[in-house]
Amino acid sequence: MPNIEKLLQWYDINHRILPWRSTSDPYKIWLSEIILQQTRVDQGLNYYLKFIDKFPAIEDLAHAGEDEILKLWQGLGYYSRARNLHKTAKTVCHQHGGIFPKTYHEILKLKGVGPYTAAAIASIVFDEPKPVVDGNVMRLVSRWYAIDEAVNSASGINQIKEILAQLIDKNQPGKFNQAMMEFGAGFCKPKNPDCFQCIFKDQCLAFQKNKVAILPRKNSTVKVKNRYFNYLFINFIQDGEIFTFLKKRQENDIWKGLYEFPLIETLHETGIMELLRNNEEMIPGSPDQLVIESISKKYLHKLTHQRINTCFIKMEFNGSPGENAYPYLKTPLSTIRTYPVSRLTDKYLNDCGL
Ligand code: ADE
Repeated sequence: MPNIEKLLQWYDINHRILPWRSTSDPYKIWLSEIILQQTRVDQGLNYYLKFIDKFPAIEDLAHAGEDEILKLWQGLGYYSRARNLHKTAKTVCHQHGGIFPKTYHEILKLKGVGPYTAAAIASIVFDEPKPVVDGNVMRLVSRWYAIDEAVNSASGINQIKEILAQLIDKNQPGKFNQAMMEFGAGFCKPKNPDCFQCIFKDQCLAFQKNKVAILPRKNSTVKVKNRYFNYLFINFIQDGEIFTFLKKRQENDIWKGLYEFPLIETLHETGIMELLRNNEEMIPGSPDQLVIESISKKYLHKLTHQRINTCFIKMEFNGSPGENAYPYLKTPLSTIRTYPVSRLTDKYLNDCGL
């Protein structure tokens, strides 16, 4: 059985100094935990600082516009986190009088907060002994105890939860949870951990049984779907100014709330002529008013369950778009960088020098 006292001592000496570790403000801890849900600390830190700078209190976040929040979130991915952040800020301000809920069960009711985040907040801020069960913690426990069940199976997770319920330091659950996450992320790494230097090598069953490399086990469930995005980057000049068209994504799909060029999604890679022939409603006038300027290289965006194969077709439009018929937002090109966009579109705009 691992010695938790040793873990906490290790944490005292080795933990990273991070801004959300020197506060007990639930707003700040909640924000940091939402950012860290699918993001490494080194990547999330800058975003956290930007958010706190712009929205020092939860009221500031509640009163912000969704586009402003999404713009600040740009590049972090999993944008539902940003939309839920906004919803929860409003809930706390309008339904809880600005006071962040104080118990695991109340925190769990907030939008965008699952058991892992609720446990982190409840333990760190309110000393509630709820163990955090995230990927780093599961890896650590599955190795300490050489658990052969898959960590994405119900029985594997239940075993880990039972062990954590025994291990958690009830007097300092927040420190315990953070130490577990920190040790899992920083030392008990997925690949090639330095077991010979590990303070737990005498207690780690995986190490003793030479199973570190094969634990944790996972059932493979991920089916990756290929999608084909064809973006129309249409430029036209009006009164001496260059405009393009954008749309805010509304569907319950990836990138909801972000802006993008008119999009034609196809089932396969499709040639430009066929694309335009089959989608005449996607252009602001008639095809003979369009000049194709360039077709971009292929941009591949990999998500856990999807591969987004993308090309951008840059076109000049030599007409004047009807005000109502074309359902896209006429946008001065000079303002395009003020809109929140996916990392994919961001890359393309960078490559265009925009
Ligand atoms: N990952 C998510 N939350 C964390 C925390 N509080 N400390 C370290 N890593 C984390």
